[in-house]
Amino acid sequence: MTVSLDTYMKEKKAWIDRVLPRYLNAAPIPEKLKSSMSYSLMAGGKRIRPILLFATLHALGTDEEKGLCTAAGLEMIHSYSLIHDDLPAMDDDDLRRGKPTNHKVFGEATAILAGDGLLTLAFQVVASDRLLSGEVKSRIIERLSNAAGPEGMVGGQQEDLEAEEQALTIDKLMSVHRRKTGRLIRFPVEAGALIGEAAREQYQCLTAYADHLGLAFQIGDDILDITGSEAELGKTVGSDLTNHKNTYVSLLTLDGARKELSRHVDRAIAYLGSTGLKTGLLEEIAAYLLHRTH
Ligand code: IPE
Ligand code: IPE
Ligand code: MG
Ligand code: MG
Ligand code: MG
Repeated sequence: MTVSLDTYMKEKKAWIDRVLPRYLNAAPIPEKLKSSMSYSLMAGGKRIRPILLFATLHALGTDEEKGLCTAAGLEMIHSYSLIHDDLPAMDDDDLRRGKPTNHKVFGEATAILAGDGLLTLAFQVVASDRLLSGEVKSRIIERLSNAAGPEGMVGGQQEDLEAEEQALTIDKLMSVHRRKTGRLIRFPVEAGALIGEAAREQYQCLTAYADHLGLAFQIGDDILDITGSEAELGKTVGSDLTNHKNTYVSLLTLDGARKELSRHVDRAIAYLGSTGLKTGLLEEIAAYLLHRTH
């Protein structure tokens, strides 16, 4: 039976939305900190990173439950990155996932700590996974810390900030985007390939797919910052212009950015062909990036 991407995304989003509060509630966390962590974590993100992990497991014919703790940890890290990204010292944004940003509601100090809390709890959740072997778990933890940390997302955020007052070349911007966003989009595919025991060639094709997907995702985000509607996006439109950010749109124009988006989506899909796996959903996820509105 083939499932439509729309149904699959709704089902998996509902699944992760049900599971995430359990991890928060299982831990004895000071009241205000827990409210602040939960406020952002449960504010209604698309859950595209967990969905990618589940879709990779689906492609490999592996039980998706095996990816649940990793997916939950990853979404915590992603949510922490958004709380910190919105802080006055960073992008200084007031709206996220359709609600006032964390620091607007809880104050900057608690917002910083909520981010710290989500980052750390994420690793606790992954480390306490009972469905994975110790060996797979340690490889997952190594890759997740690498993707989220100073070599990955955190490093990309630093480069993004430093570039605010200078014009980057498109090659440099591509490398910033790969770090700040691409690595956390690549990770769930990589984790799915590890958990689902992909063969070496399959692993290489899946991660090459995810590299292009990660870049395409941030190019799409750059485009939506100009063309999106605040109501649909749930975040402030035009934030990149206000902050003098280097984006695919500022460097290449809207039309040029759309061409690059489409080129990376095509290249991502091309890598799936030779895997011999059930990659229909992964293909559809890539195609969905072409016309997403939030
Ligand atoms: C937004 O990520 C930040 C980027 C890395 C581009 P998403 O677009 O996945 O945000 P949510 O999780 O759906 O809110
Ligand atoms: C942020 O990129 C990527 C992160 C690591 C959070 P943006 O600053 O463009 O993300 P949005 O547009 O605020 O979601
Ligand atoms: Mg930012
Ligand atoms: Mg931002
Ligand atoms: Mg953006």
